[in-house]
Amino acid sequence: MAEIKDNFKTFNVDLWKYDGQEGALIPLLQSAQDTYGYVSEKAIDYISHITGIPAADIYGVVTFYAQFRTKPLGKFVIKVCNGTACHVNGAKTVSDTINDELNIDYEETTDDGNFSLVSVACLGCCSLAPVMVVNDETYGRLTPAKVRKIVRTYKHKAKQENQ
Ligand code: FES
Repeated sequence: MAEIKDNFKTFNVDLWKYDGQEGALIPLLQSAQDTYGYVSEKAIDYISHITGIPAADIYGVVTFYAQFRTKPLGKFVIKVCNGTACHVNGAKTVSDTINDELNIDYEETTDDGNFSLVSVACLGCCSLAPVMVVNDETYGRLTPAKVRKIVRTYKHKAKQENQ
C-alpha cells in the first residue's frame, strides 16, 4: 500500500474525513484520476484500505459517474469541444466522423490503446469552431474530410511508433 500512497501527489488523507456520504469519495477518486489518468484497481484498493469502504462499493461509485475512467487513456487523446459555438457548428459531425474512423464513442479507448475520445467544454478558441485537440495540438474549422485526414495521420504515427 505504501508505494501507492506515495504516488498520490495531491492526495491528503489526513484532511479527509469520511462522513458516510458517497459524495465524499469524489475528491479522492478525482485525485487518483488526476494522478494516473484513470481510476485503477490499485487506487480503488488503496481508497478502500484508508476509508474502510468495500472496494465493490467504491467501484460502484466510479462507474456511476461519467467523469471517471476505469481504463488508461490512449496514446493519442482526441478532445472534441462540445461548447456552444462548436455544438452549433458541427461538433456532432466531428465526433461521428471519429466514431466512423476509430469505432469509439466518447469516454472510450480503442482496443489497441492508441486513441481515446473525450468530450470537453469550450476550449477558448470559438472562432475556430468546430474544434478538437489531439494531445496538445489544436485543430479548427473542422469538416468531416479534415477530421478523417487528421485521424489517419495519427493512425499512421501510431503505427510507426509501435513498430
Ligand atoms: S465552444 Fe468550442 S472552442 Fe469555444
